[in-house]
Amino acid sequence: MPRWLTTLLTFLLLQNALAIEVNPEDETSLKNAAKTVATTMVDYYNARDSKAIPGKFDGTWWEGGSMFMTLIQYWYLTGDSQFNDAIQEGMYWQKGDDNDFFPSNYSQYLGNDDQVFWGLAAITAGELNFPERSGEPSWISLAEGVFNGQIPRWDMTACNGGLRWQIWPYQDGYNLKNAISNGGLFQLSARLALYTKNATYAEWAEKIWDWSHSTPLLRKTWVIADTTTNAANCKDHGDHQWTYNYATYIMGAGYMHNYTNGTEGKWLEGVTGLLKTSEQFFPKSGDHQIISDITCEPIDMCDRNQKTFKTYFTSWIGFMSLIVPTNVTAEVMGKFKASAVAAGQQCSGGSDGKHCGIRWTMKSEWDGTMGLEQQMSVLGVLNAVMVPFTADGPYNADNGGKSKSDPHGGSNPEGSTGPAPITSGDRVGAGILTAVFVLVWVGAISWMLVGGK
Ligand SMILES: *[C@@H]1O[C@H](CO)[C@@H](O)[C@H](O)[C@H]1NC(C)=O
Ligand SMILES: *[C@@H]1O[C@H](CO)[C@@H](O)[C@H](O)[C@H]1NC(C)=O
Ligand SMILES: *[C@@H]1O[C@H](CO)[C@@H](O)[C@H](O)[C@H]1NC(C)=O
Ligand SMILES: *[C@@H]1O[C@H](CO)[C@@H](O)[C@H](O)[C@H]1NC(C)=O
Ligand SMILES: *[C@@H]1O[C@H](CO)[C@@H](O)[C@H](O)[C@H]1NC(C)=O
Repeated sequence: MPRWLTTLLTFLLLQNALAIEVNPEDETSLKNAAKTVATTMVDYYNARDSKAIPGKFDGTWWEGGSMFMTLIQYWYLTGDSQFNDAIQEGMYWQKGDDNDFFPSNYSQYLGNDDQVFWGLAAITAGELNFPERSGEPSWISLAEGVFNGQIPRWDMTACNGGLRWQIWPYQDGYNLKNAISNGGLFQLSARLALYTKNATYAEWAEKIWDWSHSTPLLRKTWVIADTTTNAANCKDHGDHQWTYNYATYIMGAGYMHNYTNGTEGKWLEGVTGLLKTSEQFFPKSGDHQIISDITCEPIDMCDRNQKTFKTYFTSWIGFMSLIVPTNVTAEVMGKFKASAVAAGQQCSGGSDGKHCGIRWTMKSEWDGTMGLEQQMSVLGVLNAVMVPFTADGPYNADNGGKSKSDPHGGSNPEGSTGPAPITSGDRVGAGILTAVFVLVWVGAISWMLVGGK
């Protein structure tokens, strides 16, 4: 065998040896994998330029909420509390002057979807009895603060209702209504309903669901459009298919099913119908078992936001399976196991051979990308697969939830902050950093191959 070939084979073997092995039937294997993946994710967080500001990421604000949400799930499922201080610090720092996750530093350019992800992180903390600090508002009251901030933005100027994507008229997305903003508030309302048993939240959840169902954002065929416009009175549609849009409506419907004691057929019908149309996210390239964001992954064009979407589909539905214990959820939970194994095989990048790629359908052929978002996605699916090993949760006020409700959480919902200049300098920096990592990696391979000749 020529020496270069030996070197190449050794390298490939090394690659495989370096991937993260996941046995989805073994809790210890899952916990170990999750710990490795979470640690690398938090390394990225700790290395950010803006580390003087807890919870603020470079070039993005909303991902902070989603990373903390994923880490709270991780803590609950594994008992590993090493990141808890950082989670608390970041969450409280970003809660805003009015306890509604609308901090004045960033509120001039936030969308409803950005804000709701922090609200979802807060309710996750409440539902899982994540530790609170005395002197701080409760997790549930922070989630209620987001609800109280968003409800007054319900827009009756067109489409007979709905939440706009962006909050301020000077932003492009102000004229759009989109699935993640409406589905996000729907989910938050449904979870607040189950936690607090306050019927007002359930009424809003149902109102948002029914309104969505009257637009292409939640078609009768259970196909979800990403966007629709006020100008067309919500008759038009941007039809890019994203996992998280489906997941947020599925999650909310699952919570409403449980809240209504299964007495209203519409919610389970929604969960079932949307899981059926979500089968598109398990394409042939992954033997119909491995989840993929099919709009961007096959063409290798996922931006950093899109790289996180699978986190939500997997981990939300994973937790939902505890409160919707039917064969409808069992089937997709099975696919998450295959996805978790494939995700682990993607984790062979970087100098330590443990950084994960995003295209899990490529299995052991690392896709050459790495970053905080990739880590988050893998942690999401590992969390989903760990859920069945836990006996209980999500908690609510009647079954052990300790976080206190304050229906008046968040005090100054709307309109107090005006426009301010927007900069996007940070974003570029993150891109360059990724490029440097990839170059170093490619450089390392070339060196090995050339060196072996
Ligand atoms: C707002 O910006 C100031 C100045 O950079 C910083 O000290 C503070 O921590 C920021 N607050 C939040 C919530 O990010
Ligand atoms: C669900 O059942 C519980 C226990 O029987 C009951 O207290 C509650 O009111 C029911 N919820 C709804 C929304 O009907
Ligand atoms: C609601 O969730 C609980 C677990 O918290 C479960 O025991 C119960 O069966 C669920 N109710 C329905 C209608 O599925
Ligand atoms: C789930 O169970 C119901 C009856 O309990 C059955 O009608 C349905 O076909 C089952 N669905 C799947 C996906 O197995
Ligand atoms: C239920 O929530 C609504 C809306 O936040 C609030 O106005 C009302 O006071 C709450 N009711 C109770 C009994 O807490």
